[in-house]
Parts: sequence; structure tokens; C-alpha cells
Amino acid sequence: MSSVLTIRGGVPLTGRVSVRGAKNLVPKAMVAALLGNEPSILRNVPEIKDVEVVTSLLQLHGVTVVKDAVTGDLTLDPKAAKTASSAAIDAHAGDSRIPILLCGPLIHAIGEAFIPDLGGCKIGDRPIDYHLNVLRQFGAVVEKRPGGIHISAPKGLQGAKITLPYPSVGATEQVLLSATRAEGITELIGAATEPEIVDLIAVLQKMGAIINIQTDRTIRIEGVRELGGYNHKALSDRNEAASWASAALVTKGDIFVEGASQRDMMTFLNTYRKIGGGMDIQEDGIRFFHPGGKLNPLVLETDVHPGFMTDWQQPLVVALTQAEGVSIVHETVYENRFGFTEALIRMGANIQVHRECLGSIPCRFGQRNFLHSAVISGPAQLTGADIDVPDLRGGFSHLIAALAATGTSRVTGIDIINRGYERFTDKLAGLGADFDFTTDDASVSA
Ligand code: EPU
Repeated sequence: MSSVLTIRGGVPLTGRVSVRGAKNLVPKAMVAALLGNEPSILRNVPEIKDVEVVTSLLQLHGVTVVKDAVTGDLTLDPKAAKTASSAAIDAHAGDSRIPILLCGPLIHAIGEAFIPDLGGCKIGDRPIDYHLNVLRQFGAVVEKRPGGIHISAPKGLQGAKITLPYPSVGATEQVLLSATRAEGITELIGAATEPEIVDLIAVLQKMGAIINIQTDRTIRIEGVRELGGYNHKALSDRNEAASWASAALVTKGDIFVEGASQRDMMTFLNTYRKIGGGMDIQEDGIRFFHPGGKLNPLVLETDVHPGFMTDWQQPLVVALTQAEGVSIVHETVYENRFGFTEALIRMGANIQVHRECLGSIPCRFGQRNFLHSAVISGPAQLTGADIDVPDLRGGFSHLIAALAATGTSRVTGIDIINRGYERFTDKLAGLGADFDFTTDDASVSA
């Protein structure tokens, strides 16, 4: 299906949107259900493509997934887990990276796993070497086969002392999902500690796992023989919340983001305040608004938690095109997350990208030909353009640029945005955006 958004820009987005469970937690909590010997219930589940992909993958492996018609809660029952054909897995994996996280749970449940060659947003090479090294350290045998990787563990998974070369979110989750039922103790040094990881640990603890997080990025897991089910409300999506916050600034709007959580967004909120954004933090969400007047330029570096999250970078860069002066952004998590600026430049933004590290965080990408620092001069008048969405956050950033621009933009490839933004066209319509949405079989105006 191909969809096109025709956006007539210049309308401030105003109103209320609601964010539900985090895209970067929900699919992983679904995978965790495979580790249990009884059903699990996951609440606050968003209707996004990544949830559909994981639902299909779990069903292929014999897990019953039932969605409550009213609440959308999922009941996941793993008792009939079984091997699935590699062709079927390949057909359902789509462009998600989640399948790699099925390895540990599948080995515990059925003794083997097949992982198709992975997709995910094109924001760098996105290798899986950390994941495979972690699995090998647990005693798994990893074999390359046509179309993917076969993983088995003839003697079961054994606890291990593992050091990550970088605090990777996915590799930390790989360790958690493999170690909880491995034999013995696992010590993970150099772990990622994002709120989504802490929430996954909460899920696993509800199932019966024993996991300690120490202050120095060390996580210690005492393997247990069996796990039960869980009943869990997913933490809300702080990346979607930050995207709407940026949309409010860029369009000179005023958006109450129901479900935005101050605790998980503190670094973003500090930055938002420094740029000159208005906010009103409430129990049930946060109001983000442009207070009028000028926005301030910033010097910013992305980093692992508790630093400034890489997924917040792209929408905020659009806001920085509207700040008065020169901003510098150093991306230290992904080597190639500035590709989206090409379309912004065509729309009139003044942005240069550089290979040098324009910042002080030790970064793996300096002197290696990666355009991973950006210098943004503002304010720039944006004008509408034809845009093909490159990746999830870059695509949302293009949308908000088009919504602020003078004139009309035609945005293609927007299906990518459904991977992580629930019903985003409905939300845009609710905020007063002026657009037409056409798919192959339907046309909707807002
Ligand atoms: N890396 C490796 N080898 C590996 C794994 C990672 O070199 O085996 C590198 C990556 O290439 C990257 C860095 O380590 O340079 C960090 O990657 P990480 O493993 O932390 O990322 P991820 O688990 O693949 C998740 C989110 C991303 C988010 C990052 C960082 C999910 C499904 N994805 O990715 O979300 O940017 O953590 O917080 O949880 C998004 O939501 O738009 C998105 C890309």
C-alpha cells in the first residue's frame, strides 16, 4: 500500500494527543511472555506496526495472542510454543529488528531460534554483532544459514560474565531475556539503563526473575528454572511525547500530551526549557507550547540514558531551524542520523553536516567519514517540498517541518511512521493540521 500526505503548512498545532505504551518497550515485553509457563497480560498497548509484527512472530511460534476488543490489552499464552518455519518467520518479520530478541526466549522454550536478516530504520549500519557475541557467551551455537541465522544451545544457556563494548539497548535486552532462565549467575558490565529497560526488568521481576541494577551500569541476574506470567501496564512512549513537544514548538502551537511522563523525560525537558519552549507539567501529561518571541540556539549532544536521547534529536533539529542563532548537534549514538536534514535544506533550512566531532562526549564516529555533527543557523523560513520519508523519526521531523512551512508539501513513504506513531494522521487531524491523506484505496481530508 502506498500513501501520500498532502500538507498545507502554516497552521499551529493545538489541542490534545494521547500517547500510550512505548514502542521501544511493548514488543520486548511481548517477547518476554515466551519465557513464562502461564499467560501474561500487557496493558497500554499502542496500535503500531511493530506490535503487529511481534504478534505475528509469536503466533507463528505457537503463542496465543488475544487482543481485548475494548481496551486493546493483550493476553499472551506461551504454553503451546513451537518451532516455526524459517520462510514463515522471514515473511512476517517485515522490517523490524525485534526478531533478534526472540533468541533467548525461544532457546529456553523450544531449544532453537531462526532469525531472518534484519531491517529497522536506516540510520546507520545497525549491526547485530553484540547480540551474537552475547548469545555465544551464554553457550549458544550461532550458524549463518540462507536468509538468516540459526541459533541453538545443546546444553542450554549458561550464566556468564559479559562486558558490552557500548551500552547498547538491544544487547542489554538480549542479556536480560537470555539470562533470567539461564543456569547460574550473569553479570552484565556496561549495560544500557534506559527507562524502557528498567520497565522490561519490572516485567521480568513480576514473572519471578531476580535482577539487580547497580549504579555503575552493572546488572546482575540470578537465573531461575521457571518463570510465571505477568500483568503489566507498559510505560508511556517518551519518544512520541518528545516528538509532539517539538511539533508544538515548530508550528508555534500548543499541545497537551496526555501520558507524557516527567520522570522519563527530564533531560528532554531541560533542553526544551533552554531552547525557550513553554511547558506545564501535570499528573496526567505535559502541555508543550511556543510562548511567543524568539527561540534560543543550543549546543547539544545525544547520548545513552540519562543523556539526551538520539530519538529526540531529529524532531528537535527542526525546532532549532527556527531558533535565533547557531546551534550545534553532535550525534554520538548512530553514525548516520542526519540524512533527514537533506529534505530540510531543500525546504529552506540552513544546516551543514560535518564529519568532525563537534562536542566533548567520547564518540565512536570521529575521523571515520560519518557525517554525525550538524550546525544549524536560524531562524529559517521553511517552504513546502516533495519529501520521501527516510526513517521513523526523520519522517516525523519532515511532517512537522511541512506543517510549519509556507505552501504545500507532498510526503510519500509515510507508512514507515506507522511503525512507531499510533494513528498519527488522526492525531494530526485532531490538532487542526490541514492535509489530505490518500492511500491506494481511500482518500481522507482533514
Ligand atoms: N550496535 C552495534 N552492534 C550491535 C548492536 C548495536 O554496533 O549488535 C550499535 C548501533 O549500531 C548503535 C549503538 O550500538 O550505533 C546503539 O544501538 P542500540 O543497540 O542501543 O539500539 P537498538 O537497540 O537497535 C533501540 C531503539 C532505537 C533507539 C536505540 C537507542 C528499539 C526497537 N529501538 O535500538 O529506537 O534509538 O535503542 O536508544 O528499541 C527509534 O525509536 O526511532 C529507534 C531507532
